[in-house]
Amino acid sequence: FGREIYYEESVDSTQKIAHRLAYEGAVEGTIVVSEEQRMGRGRLGRAWFSPIYTGIWVSIILKPEIAPQQAPQLTLLAAVSVVRGIQKATGIRCDIKWPNDILINGKKVVGILTELVAESDRINAVIVGIGMNVNQEREHFPEDLQAIATSLAIEGGHKWNRAAILQAVLKEMEDLYFDYLKNGFQVVKLLWESYAVSIGKQIKARTLTNSITGKALGITDEGVLLLEDEKGTVHRIYSADIEINE
Ligand code: BTN
Repeated sequence: FGREIYYEESVDSTQKIAHRLAYEGAVEGTIVVSEEQRMGRGRLGRAWFSPIYTGIWVSIILKPEIAPQQAPQLTLLAAVSVVRGIQKATGIRCDIKWPNDILINGKKVVGILTELVAESDRINAVIVGIGMNVNQEREHFPEDLQAIATSLAIEGGHKWNRAAILQAVLKEMEDLYFDYLKNGFQVVKLLWESYAVSIGKQIKARTLTNSITGKALGITDEGVLLLEDEKGTVHRIYSADIEINE
């Protein structure tokens, strides 16, 4: 990945540019990276804080031959690649919180946003957006984020080379992705469960319409979270914010 690189100083969102490039026929593995995003996009319509020269704001264009309902698998694949890449480049160990938050000591250090470029029932491309907080100091974060967000510099005690981290993550992702296309989701799933903090714990899942408390059992082959409530009923959670109650 990254043989075709679009490098920008400042953009609205790397996702937006990647969508356009995918539409124009960009090759698989094309990446868009920017020093700053003026309108970084997060999950569920939220904004993503993307200040200049401090983070890694990157979108990767993939063109897998998979069904749309398999797309969440790529989010999990990206999460595993990020955790492994960070560990290789910095020695820092991160956890994964379903579906795609990467945490250190319970604070978010990386977010992943997967979007589809689909035509009727066919996937043309999958855009995997990764936002990594690398060199921010605590006071760089807006006040409301200070309690819930962190960076590799805060956790590691010094600044890091962003290019080296990006390279390590892209290498992990490329290896895992080609293995996934050839051999399927099982390896990604096992790795993901080994890095996930929520599995086996009591959690609360807040969906758009209600909230369910119970034990996180694991994920399905589609990346759906299985949650067992106190009555023993197993719920399939497709989209939610989760809170871990230990
Ligand atoms: C989340 O809400 O956790 C997902 C955040 C994803 C942020 C990244 S930064 C690069 C790419 N471009 C965007 O506008 N968003 C993603």
